[in-house]
Amino acid sequence: MSDTNKTATLTFDGKSFELPMHSPTAGPDVIDIRKLYGEAGVFTYDPGFTSTAACDSTITYIDGGKGELLHRGYPIDQLAEKSHYLEVCYLLLYGELPSAEQLEDFETRVTRHTMIHEQMINFFRGFRRDAHPMAVMVGVVGAMSAFYHDSTDVNDPWQREVASIRLIAKMPTIAAMAYKYTIGQPFVYPRNDCDYASNFLRMCFAVPAEDYEVNPILARAMDRIFTLHADHEQNASTSTVRLASSSGANPFACIAAGIACLWGPAHGGANQACLEMLREIGSPNRIPEYIERAKDKNDPFRLMGFGHRVYKNFDPRAKVMKQSADEVLDLLGIENNPTLQVAKELEAAALADPYFTEKKLFPNVDFYSGIILEAMGFPTSMFTPIFALSRTVGWVSQWKEMIADPAMKIGRPRQLYQGETMRDYVDIENR
Ligand code: CMC
Repeated sequence: MSDTNKTATLTFDGKSFELPMHSPTAGPDVIDIRKLYGEAGVFTYDPGFTSTAACDSTITYIDGGKGELLHRGYPIDQLAEKSHYLEVCYLLLYGELPSAEQLEDFETRVTRHTMIHEQMINFFRGFRRDAHPMAVMVGVVGAMSAFYHDSTDVNDPWQREVASIRLIAKMPTIAAMAYKYTIGQPFVYPRNDCDYASNFLRMCFAVPAEDYEVNPILARAMDRIFTLHADHEQNASTSTVRLASSSGANPFACIAAGIACLWGPAHGGANQACLEMLREIGSPNRIPEYIERAKDKNDPFRLMGFGHRVYKNFDPRAKVMKQSADEVLDLLGIENNPTLQVAKELEAAALADPYFTEKKLFPNVDFYSGIILEAMGFPTSMFTPIFALSRTVGWVSQWKEMIADPAMKIGRPRQLYQGETMRDYVDIENR
């Protein structure tokens, strides 16, 4: 943390307090309030942590005003175009782009950990066939703590490393098995001769009855979806992973907590909700009705895939995703896809409407991802599991960074208590 010579002064009740300030390498300065309660006896109030930096980090930087996303300094559009998911995983985990040898070693390590303990299959069979794959993933990833005891000691850097590789490697297998289970098909085991994205597509779409050939263009599009979702600094699920692990809980339990948080429709669940919304709109002539609903304060409806807590400009991931959607649909010969048509016209209509531009609401990563995933053959229920498997590397990188930080403390927010003050218990006959 780099200190500045600047301080901030807080004055109340006739007393003043000097608060130190720190400068990041990018982004706004921060006021350090760690000693505020001890010295001034007050808390700060920030529901939703909209103005609070909860940690130091060197992994990901977002400039929401410019619509910029950097991983270890590299812009996401360059990574999406020139790199691939496992290289981005290496970058996020270790801080630098790998040499050819380092990349090969990393890919080998990930590939060798893709199988899950055979007994874990019993967990899948315990779920109802109609279970949402996210429910299955929360359960099965949490259950990894019961199978990989040799990588649950968070104080041992080697065990942390092994747990990280296991999570990145096994998540596609778990997501694909969750899918296969819900459609009643046999599980397809991972193959070491496939790259990460092709292996996932194979585990989802191959059947024992016939050969399955992965289309390299679809594998590239899948890899790009993984890359675009790999990390996004201190979002709700990442903060959940950090908070859960601040108690020293094992990494598998903490990542399961992250998956649970990601599931919500305001976060990772938005890709499923967005495609469902586009289908419900169905035709461009119904767009004005939905735009009006989104603007109506008395209607809880929001345009899914629109708006972002941090981006107040285009989400840079959405631009790449839109281009990918065109490419994939073109490749698959899907012309005049009505959902893509509605999406494009809805985007144009919203961007021409002062309600959205004045509030700086732009399409986010989820606006086009569902269209690509649907074209590839995934049901909507698999969209959020695919987000979860992509984001695992981000959660793991942030978790490793936090555990290695000597300033790490158990997370313990305060509150602005608005309840009753102390009162005496009243016996039931007197109430
Ligand atoms: N449609 C209509 N109005 C909206 C929308 C929307 N999608 N998003 C925000 N607003 C309005 C909101 O009603 C509020 O209006 P007012 O100031 O008049 O009360 C204003 O914009 C600010 O909204 P907010 O809820 O205070 O903003 P936030 O930063 O807390 O919320 C958000 C961010 C992503 C939860 C929200 O924009 C939203 O619900 N979007 C739809 C869900 C979605 O697409 N989520 C995916 C996020 S990207 C993937 C990820 O990182 O998980």
